[in-house]
Amino acid sequence: MPFNSIPFKTTDQAVHTLPEMNLVEDKLHRVLAGPDNVMTPMGIHLLSAGGKRIRPMLAVCAGRCFSPLTPEMVTAAASVELIHMASLVHDDVIDHSPTRRGKPSLNALWGNHPAVLAGDYLFAKAFGLLASSGLVNCLNLLVETIEDMCQGEIQQAVTGFDPDITEEEYLERIHKKTAVLLAASCKLGGLAAGAEDNILEALGEYGRSLGLAYQIIDDILDLTGQSAVMGKPSGQDLSLGNITLPIIMLLRDRKHVPLLETALAGRPAKILEALHSSGALLEARKRAQAHAEKAKASLSGFPASPYKDILQSLPDIALNRTS
Ligand code: IPE
Ligand code: IPE
Ligand code: MG
Ligand code: MG
Repeated sequence: MPFNSIPFKTTDQAVHTLPEMNLVEDKLHRVLAGPDNVMTPMGIHLLSAGGKRIRPMLAVCAGRCFSPLTPEMVTAAASVELIHMASLVHDDVIDHSPTRRGKPSLNALWGNHPAVLAGDYLFAKAFGLLASSGLVNCLNLLVETIEDMCQGEIQQAVTGFDPDITEEEYLERIHKKTAVLLAASCKLGGLAAGAEDNILEALGEYGRSLGLAYQIIDDILDLTGQSAVMGKPSGQDLSLGNITLPIIMLLRDRKHVPLLETALAGRPAKILEALHSSGALLEARKRAQAHAEKAKASLSGFPASPYKDILQSLPDIALNRTS
């Protein structure tokens, strides 16, 4: 399949038509569908499922704010998407999830064993891309990022079903499992553009705040969204014992604790009602809005450009997304 026939499901037209993203898509295509080996059918399946490509877009836009397009930027952008894909493939195995990006997950089609190894393969491909381009600083940053992501996922696994989890613990967890990769995506773009340290710091701050907002919205959508729109199952977090921000907001009033117990036992109707009527969902959304505002403010020192405009618009797109 040619790369430009892959469905590219972003919610914003400016982002959708960013020409640099065709080069990233091309690179992903060459990595995943190029060499004909045992991984190729899974690679083609992953490509055909698309995805919003937020992380490579961040890398490209961050880089383009400060430099003309370079091959290193495209490489960095493709590598962060490969890391993201790897983490989703593993996440779907861990969560026994049957769908991803509107298609059956790799574990659903090939089984857990090949899916875990396919995730490992994607990590290896990401490292290979950076190493073969001599992008050692990008490689180091991504390795640190993956360490954090693993820690965040492990933290989630060991704190599952705990009604006493605090907002701070939740923030620490989503910082590690999600925000660090968005921050790294921005910083990789900046590194590929040769940006200075203060710029890299601002890019990291932007990506981190955007990432926190992004995961809070994902957690809200898990409770309120439609699986057909999201392309992945809704209601998964509660069924897996993953206590997210809306629930933490609800449990500030301890009278709701029995509702959580009922929900964790597989009957979520009452807690969903309480999440709406108590204002807990709204509270969680306000937290996401605050992080989105902080993300936008981090860009204040950047020179005006269409790429800065996209970065400026992404936090609002993240807040309003339905998938
Ligand atoms: C899903 O990420 C996992 C989270 C960190 C919330 P995305 O919502 O960016 O997923 P794709 O790449 O568009 O499928
Ligand atoms: C994000 O968390 C997963 C990763 C960071 C890999 P979720 O478990 O909420 O992601 P989805 O909802 O399955 O996409
Ligand atoms: Mg999941
Ligand atoms: Mg989720």
